[in-house]
Amino acid sequence: MQILKTKNDLQKIQGDTKLAFVPTMGALHEGHLSLVKIAQSYAKKVIVSIFVNPTQFGPNEDLSKYPRTIEDDIKKLESLNVDFLFLPDASELYPQGLEITHFANKELSEALCGLNRPGHFDGVCTVVYKLFDLIKPDYAIFGQKDYQQLLIIKDMVKTEQIMLEIIEAEIFREADGLAMSSRNIYLSPEQRLIAPKLNKALKSVAQGKQSIDEAKLDLISLGFELDYLETRRNRVFVAAKLGSTRLIDNISLSAMIPLLNN
Ligand code: PAF
Repeated sequence: MQILKTKNDLQKIQGDTKLAFVPTMGALHEGHLSLVKIAQSYAKKVIVSIFVNPTQFGPNEDLSKYPRTIEDDIKKLESLNVDFLFLPDASELYPQGLEITHFANKELSEALCGLNRPGHFDGVCTVVYKLFDLIKPDYAIFGQKDYQQLLIIKDMVKTEQIMLEIIEAEIFREADGLAMSSRNIYLSPEQRLIAPKLNKALKSVAQGKQSIDEAKLDLISLGFELDYLETRRNRVFVAAKLGSTRLIDNISLSAMIPLLNN
C-alpha cells in the first residue's frame, strides 16, 4: 500500500483507472473494512483517507482524545490490499488555517445531530469537499450509520456538481446489534453491555411494540442521556450518551415491514 501525504503525491496516482474512495478518521474497525470491500467491488483502485478533522468537533467534544491507532490501521488496510492511504497533515487540507469553506444544507443539518453539535456538518462538508477535490475519486463510500451526514454529503455533491457517485453502505453491527463505531472503544465493560439497547429501542419503535416516549423512558432508566429519539424520512434515529461516549444509530422503518407482517 502506498502512503500519500500531499496533493503532489495524489496527482501522481490520478490516471485513467477508476478510483473508489473511503474517507475515515481512522481507528478502523470492521465497519470501515466493510466499506473498503464495497469500494473494491466498484473500482480497480481503492484509496482510504485517515484524517481526524478538527473543524467537525465542537469546543467541548473529543477531538484531543479521539482514538488514533495509525499503525494498527495501516496493518488492517494492508491486509485488504488497499492500494493507497491518504494521510495528510492538517496544513495540507487547511493551508490557510481551520476555516470553514463549505456549508451544510440548512434544512438537513438543523435537526437531529445538528441541534446538539452546532457547526459539525459544516466541518464535515468542508473537509469532504477538500478531500473530493484533491483525490478526484469516481466513487465515494459512506456508511448509513451517519445517515444525516450521508444525506448532507449527497446534497453537497448535487449542489456543487461534483463529478462522482456516492455509494451507501448498510450499518455494520456487532453480533448483539450495537452499530460499529470508533467511539465504542471508550465504553467500559458495563457500558458495552448496555449499549446494544439503543438498537433494541429502535427496533421496538419501528415494530410498533413501543411508543417513542416509552422507549425514551426505558433508555433513560438504563443510564442513557438522550439527545434524541425520533422518526424522520421513514427511519428512526437515536443519539445518546453513555457516560461521556456519544452513540448514534438508525434503522429504516420499511426494513421492519416484513417483521411486522409476521
Ligand atoms: O464519517 C467520518 O468518519 C467523518 O465524518 C468523515 C466523513 C471522514 C469526515 O471527516
